[in-house]
Amino acid sequence: MRHLLDVCDLSVEDLDKLISVAEDIAKDKEKYSQAMRGKKLATLFFEPSTRTRLSFEAAMLELGGSVLGFSEASSSSAAKGECVSDTIRVVGNYADVIAMRHPIEGAALAAAEKSVVPIINAGDGGHCHPTQTLADLLTIHRELGRLDRLTIGLCGDLLYGRTVHSLINAMLRYDGITFALISPHELELPPYSVKALENAGARVLKTDSLDEFMPELDVLYMTRVQRERFPSAESYERVKDCYVLTPEHLKAAKPTMRVLHPLPRVNEIAKSVDDDPRAAYFRQTLNGKLMRMALLMFLTSEEALSAPSSLPTADETGAPCSNPKCISNNEYGFVPKARRDKNALRCLYCEHEL
Ligand code: CP
Repeated sequence: MRHLLDVCDLSVEDLDKLISVAEDIAKDKEKYSQAMRGKKLATLFFEPSTRTRLSFEAAMLELGGSVLGFSEASSSSAAKGECVSDTIRVVGNYADVIAMRHPIEGAALAAAEKSVVPIINAGDGGHCHPTQTLADLLTIHRELGRLDRLTIGLCGDLLYGRTVHSLINAMLRYDGITFALISPHELELPPYSVKALENAGARVLKTDSLDEFMPELDVLYMTRVQRERFPSAESYERVKDCYVLTPEHLKAAKPTMRVLHPLPRVNEIAKSVDDDPRAAYFRQTLNGKLMRMALLMFLTSEEALSAPSSLPTADETGAPCSNPKCISNNEYGFVPKARRDKNALRCLYCEHEL
């Protein structure tokens, strides 16, 4: 069975196929209205969400399927101390596919290890958010007509912004991509994303100025500073207003450049930018639903259900992970696992170097 835990669980061919189906759904929604009839999606959201949860639910309903689930940990038995793997074993009896968001890094992999149905990672802490990347890819494809030969500015909270980590992993597989990393020092990419860029030999530009590379960008991917992931209120206060995109900044940008944002926004894009035709972030939310429709059909197809396991395998077990936000440090009875990545040993669940 296949799961979607990291965007690299999908090959470039899989992504092409999902994009093509999503574009067909946009043209002829009726054709797909019974595609998931009799199937159930469970949305298990241990962390707040508007777009991801509702677009998954809308996607399943528009495919003729049904939805069950919860939107906060406090209304589930997690509030009584139930662990993720027990919850998943139970919900696998009630649903054909599960979309799960959890604040702990690696929770989606821990869930998939115990699941009898496909698991979709709808965000695991500051780690990954692969279905947001599906929305981002379709948006870039529909707006610019290609996924290669692009200069992509990633701006804001590159440290805790899980959508950035997944987008980098996806775009590294296309030719001719330049990444412009725009952040203050405190919010630079985590080491595992830096390593992914280095291993791939990607062209990377770095700056703390929103304006420096603006004329070169094809995509400007703005992000919210992720208040909920900071160790203290003071550390958040220091960087919370680091970038605010205004129409003034966009004067230097190409007419074809597109501004993306996974949303929610707080104040990092002025509302006066919304009417600029280059602002693609609300169109991006519709694309998220289309890609989630395509993904639900894909993961519940006979071909995906009978495929060999897509779970990553460990090279070593027992070495404890030093990341306090890793699932291996947050559930009892957990055996830590690690894999070799070039010269480094990484936690299988959260990717931190051991
Ligand atoms: N982009 C995104 O994940 O939004 P939500 O947190 O509202 O789901």
